[in-house]
Amino acid sequence: MKLPITHLKPGMKLEKPVYGSCGELLLNRGIVLTKRYIEALRKNNVLVVEIEGPVPFDEIEIKEELSLTVRINAMQQLCSFVKKDNVSVADIKDTVEALLEEILSGKEIIDHLVDLCSADLYTFAHSVDVCMLSLLCGMKLGFNREKLLALGIGAILHDLGKTLIDPQILNKPGKLTQQEFEIIMTHPLKGWKLVEERGGDAIHPRSKKVILNHHERYDGSGYPRKLKAGEIDPFSAICAVADVYNAMTTDRVYRKAFPAHEVYEMLLASGNAKFDKDVIHAFLSCVKPYPVGTLVKLSNSKVACVVSQNDSLPFRPKVKVLPSGEILDLERELSVVIEAVLSPEEIKDLIP
Ligand SMILES: [Fe+2]
Ligand SMILES: [Fe+2]
Repeated sequence: MKLPITHLKPGMKLEKPVYGSCGELLLNRGIVLTKRYIEALRKNNVLVVEIEGPVPFDEIEIKEELSLTVRINAMQQLCSFVKKDNVSVADIKDTVEALLEEILSGKEIIDHLVDLCSADLYTFAHSVDVCMLSLLCGMKLGFNREKLLALGIGAILHDLGKTLIDPQILNKPGKLTQQEFEIIMTHPLKGWKLVEERGGDAIHPRSKKVILNHHERYDGSGYPRKLKAGEIDPFSAICAVADVYNAMTTDRVYRKAFPAHEVYEMLLASGNAKFDKDVIHAFLSCVKPYPVGTLVKLSNSKVACVVSQNDSLPFRPKVKVLPSGEILDLERELSVVIEAVLSPEEIKDLIP
């Protein structure tokens, strides 16, 4: 059985040998794990190992939500970094490491955690979300711990430059003028410069590229440098998809959030036009078009609530039909499909 190393306990036995990033043997098959071995695996950036025999159910099915404290801490660190409260780039590294640990320990990410009222708060919450989504995507692409950390640091800092943009423009409810849009377009360069000035040498050059390049697009239509396909580093490409997904699925002062399934389909349909197709596929396999709790309309005209995900078929989750409470696993009930997500108005109509 495969287990993330955060779930390992002394006494568990390795079913397969564990190799380091250069192919060297770290621990052989049949070794009984001790605290020291587990620590050594962590230090060698091993993410997952295979354990012999059944592992008690309660030890693997940890489905807690990502702890509020870790998320709030991450936002505070970012905020202090901007305000120069003795927070260095090295502290940001620790923050990303804490987020990565949470994800590796199997905690679920919940969206829209913070009521986004101020420009700063939106930027920080969005940065933490984009960091986590990028980490999930990187894991899907098989990145090792070192690469994940570099990606996460770039992603959490990607919009730092927005804190230097006038909030009146950033939060303008109406359409931006050309001049205002040009000001917004300066945030990647401003963010990159800010990090360079504040101890940028401590972070990987690829992390810094994410800040500069997260608005570049595959077809050359992005900014600030209009880079194209192969000129865009994969870290920046991952952050770009996570950024668009999170921004579109979040309410903003100038528009309501798009439903997750619509953004999902939009990204899926966009092919190689704006984003790298392989990155889109990896990304979409980590996000859920119908998060648990979504109310949906089924093709049999019934209304249902999503109760759990089917990882292999994200468009076919398990649902509870309302009001009967009947559970339908859409992975098996192939004659029924989800036709739409109920709008808030439709949900209001359902309440007696
Ligand atoms: Fe941005
Ligand atoms: Fe962003």
